[in-house]
Amino acid sequence: MTITLAFDVYGTLVDPQGMAELLEADAGDDAAAVSQLWRQKQLEFSFRRGLMRVYEHFGIVTRQALQTALKTRGLTVSQEREDELMDAYLSLPAFGDAEPVLESLHGQYPQYAFSNGSHGALQKVLGHNRLLEHFDGLVSVDDIKSFKPDPAVYTHARRATGAMDKPICLVSSNGWDVIGARAAGFMAVWLQRDPAAVFEDWGLQPSAVIHDLHELPGVLSGLLQC
Ligand code: LAC
Repeated sequence: MTITLAFDVYGTLVDPQGMAELLEADAGDDAAAVSQLWRQKQLEFSFRRGLMRVYEHFGIVTRQALQTALKTRGLTVSQEREDELMDAYLSLPAFGDAEPVLESLHGQYPQYAFSNGSHGALQKVLGHNRLLEHFDGLVSVDDIKSFKPDPAVYTHARRATGAMDKPICLVSSNGWDVIGARAAGFMAVWLQRDPAAVFEDWGLQPSAVIHDLHELPGVLSGLLQC
């Protein structure tokens, strides 16, 4: 018996706050706040698009979120600069634990990236960080034109990874993603990257909580025994 692993990407393997440094040229001391608002709006827009059923791929969602974040903070950038920031999003930095842990687990478990990002964006950001080679495949919500946490995207991940009737486990730092996966019948490990992050109590607990991906192999052995 094995468990198919489905790794969330943004916030889990690569760091969206990696944009803050680049934004300093546009926003100065406000750069970290702009970067946080960018991410917050990106997620909000994806949730709303999912509910409204007006899908656009995640690159468009991300661009509209950037425009909103800049505008909210009273900033304007040229079209050229906006394109530059969007390009930089395709080479966000990976968290330090991602590469060694993905490499060590590869071959032991069927392992997939599972993200709101499009296939093209995932290939670029994971390729840039040399993570791509450690996956058996990529699952993008773009295949079914909806966003997490629509239960349909978790079902799609099961189908796309061949785990329709086998155990599957999401690994995500996004608590709302963990809740979405648990609601869809997945096991789900919450990676609490931020010690101050609170897991929202919806009556759906993570299967396990870790603070660093290096803790994942030990936790998976425990889950296999359940
Ligand atoms: C993802 C975002 C939601 O990678 O973090 O799916």
